[in-house]
Amino acid sequence: MPPTLHDLEILARQAGVLLRAGYGRRQRIESKSHAIDLVTETDRRSEAFLLEAIRRRWPEDRILAEESGDHQGRGGLWYIDPLDGTVNFAHGVPIFAVSIAYAQAGQVQLGVVYDPMRDECFTAERGQGAFLNGQPLRVSATATLADALLVTGFPYDVWHNPDNNLDNFARFAVRSHGVRRLGSAALDLCYVAAARFDGYWEIRLQPWDVAAGGLIAAEAGARVTNLDGGADYISPPQSIVAANPALHPQILAVLHEKGTP
Ligand code: IPD
Ligand code: CA
Ligand code: CA
Repeated sequence: MPPTLHDLEILARQAGVLLRAGYGRRQRIESKSHAIDLVTETDRRSEAFLLEAIRRRWPEDRILAEESGDHQGRGGLWYIDPLDGTVNFAHGVPIFAVSIAYAQAGQVQLGVVYDPMRDECFTAERGQGAFLNGQPLRVSATATLADALLVTGFPYDVWHNPDNNLDNFARFAVRSHGVRRLGSAALDLCYVAAARFDGYWEIRLQPWDVAAGGLIAAEAGARVTNLDGGADYISPPQSIVAANPALHPQILAVLHEKGTP
């Protein structure tokens, strides 16, 4: 039996308990691909819990997990980000989440993002709408960039790679109500779904960052594409733009402007 949305929600809430327990505690922090790409004991603990729980009940499935990679299987595909927002977590900033998505036949069907500090559980099943703690979500109706609050993020090679999104940040900062940098791609997408933000974009993300949040935003009425406007925002290293349908083309147009901002 494939998992239900309820199964994913239970897993996310249980992993959330581990995140909350680790929050604020002194712990070993290591760097991964770059000096600012961090992993803590809590990332590993949350991932180990999720892997064990999924394998026990769905042993045939494939799992793509941030800290331990690709666990092959012939069934459905799970995308696991055991702690999205690790830099916040490591610095004691209470903005982070656990993100779990489940795909079948190449399409994400279920997505859950759980923020344990606010007890906010964002959920979506393809075709069934998006919810926050059981209440339906709808994207904002903001029609112009000048009235929009946006959010973005920066890749971990921001120190060294000139293609680092800072130019886009400058472009939007002077044409909108502001651009936030929350530090959790999964929550950025859920906040677009909840109309807290009007639009979000980011470059060079990984599948586990966006698989659940992308479905949740889309099910709340957002247009979700890559920076070229194409439907695939999951294959790595992928870019993503999520916004209400009025703003999405305006955001794409600014992202394709050339020259200094
Ligand atoms: C990161 C966060 C961040 C985004 C990075 C991601 P992590 O995930 O989602 O907001 O800007 O690109 O890698 O490392 O905290 O799971
Ligand atoms: Ca992540
Ligand atoms: Ca992570």
